[in-house]
Amino acid sequence: MELEVSWFPQFLFTPMSFILLSFISLYLLRSRLWCNCEICSTYLTSSWSLKFHNLCDWYAHLLRESPTKTIHIHVLRNTITANPENVQYMLKTNFENFPKGKPFSTILGDFLGQGIFNVDGHPWRFQRKMASLELDKHSVRSYAFEIVNHEIENRLIPLLSSFSETKDVLDLQDVFKRFSFDSICKFSFGLDPMCLDLSLPLSEFAVSFDLASRLSAERAMTASPLVWKIKRMLNLGSEKQLKEAINMIDVLAREVIVTKRQMGFSTQRDLLSRFMRSVDDETYLRDIVISFLLAGRDTVASALTSFFWLMTTHKVVESAIRSEADRVLGRNESLKSFEHMQELHYLQAAIYESMRLYPPVQFDSKFCDQDDVLPDGTFVKKGTRVTYHPYAMGRIPENWGPDYMEFKPERWLKEGAFFMENAFKYPVFQPGHRVCLGKEMALMELKVVALSLLRNFDIQTTTQFDVPRFSPGLTATFRGGLPVRVRERKTLPSS
Ligand code: HEM
Repeated sequence: MELEVSWFPQFLFTPMSFILLSFISLYLLRSRLWCNCEICSTYLTSSWSLKFHNLCDWYAHLLRESPTKTIHIHVLRNTITANPENVQYMLKTNFENFPKGKPFSTILGDFLGQGIFNVDGHPWRFQRKMASLELDKHSVRSYAFEIVNHEIENRLIPLLSSFSETKDVLDLQDVFKRFSFDSICKFSFGLDPMCLDLSLPLSEFAVSFDLASRLSAERAMTASPLVWKIKRMLNLGSEKQLKEAINMIDVLAREVIVTKRQMGFSTQRDLLSRFMRSVDDETYLRDIVISFLLAGRDTVASALTSFFWLMTTHKVVESAIRSEADRVLGRNESLKSFEHMQELHYLQAAIYESMRLYPPVQFDSKFCDQDDVLPDGTFVKKGTRVTYHPYAMGRIPENWGPDYMEFKPERWLKEGAFFMENAFKYPVFQPGHRVCLGKEMALMELKVVALSLLRNFDIQTTTQFDVPRFSPGLTATFRGGLPVRVRERKTLPSS
């Protein structure tokens, strides 16, 4: 840890002092919100980990057992629900009373600024309207489809082919992170960081973006906001690193904006150029686009990782996807257009089913603005954090039947055609007024990658586990990645 500030007592700069600071904050927090109930004691002592691999598995267990499908973690002032009626109430019916709220916007504020992901009220409504107008255009969808296909044909498939030749182990999760970062940067900025080119060092932009996302997420894990706020004030440790990463992102984003102004943005197809036609303010433009990058990057990589992990253990589903593609597209034919994909019902069902069990965003919180009562009768006091939990919701028998833990794409098909379940039972893309703006793009990306890789390669994991272990963070990430070996399947189309 580098120490720069000279006027402060030296002992406050040692790692020990931060541990001490964390304990003091934790003590203050606990003394304010101490609770002896079984759930809070289990949480505070981490004894849930004796029975469950992941915190989300313990929450899923508690929510399954709860008659209302709602629980309280008093020490965190967090009400957690897996009840679809409650979810509909907070995301749609009484949406205005459940904003993102200040605690989270403060945590992500330095990184995301006033970007759509991090604001409520008027700034959110303005950006949402502007972004929806663009994203709904046919030309934008075709542009996204072109980018994704290009990245697959020219980088993803050649990369996997090279590993097929050497028979070396490859971390598929890392590959998907690189792939989705390249794709979302090209789509949002018209910028190609070339992360999937393993022969090149990672671009400064990618490194800084990764660091800024990770360190911002870590702020949420400190015992009290006081800890990171003091470190930020003193420009110390992780806060110093975060500041440097954000400065780097700012410089690069501004460079892109200036270059676009010089070269002319009126005919360019990326999202930034489109926004530049209606917004002048450089900081605002930067914030809008950085939010898209954050929203569209790790989520897609996470969905792909769990999908391919499931494929390695569900060979019947894998061959059903291949058969459907041969039947609908033709055995030696590749995907031609965005529309062409709409006919692949089984593929869509498999992707929805995979995200039912492994949603990329496992939980999402809002802060209650005024005292309220949820449809299941739960009272929520003003200022309470209210969390809906897609991961747990995919594991509730009342929602999905007694076979809820089975990976069964058929549950999404009626007479062979995909049908959508009640969206509030499946809040993977946050249904309601703030539904994910990249949903269609994400589904397209997932389908094209899934199809291309399954038709071109046989993929086997090199480690066996029944339940993935997740790393803490904003998006679900497999701890240890997804190590695989790939073998090229000959004489088949590339997508
Ligand atoms: C499988 C992939 C994805 C999943 C599961 C997903 C899920 C979500 C969820 C749960 C939210 C709500 C977050 C919150 O408000 O706290 C959200 C918001 C958002 N997503 Fe996605 N997302 C995915 C991919 C994408 C992509 C590819 C893009 C960009 C093209 C994108 C753009 C956005 C934006 C801009 C928002 C903010 C919407 C608003 O606040 O009005 N997402 N997404």
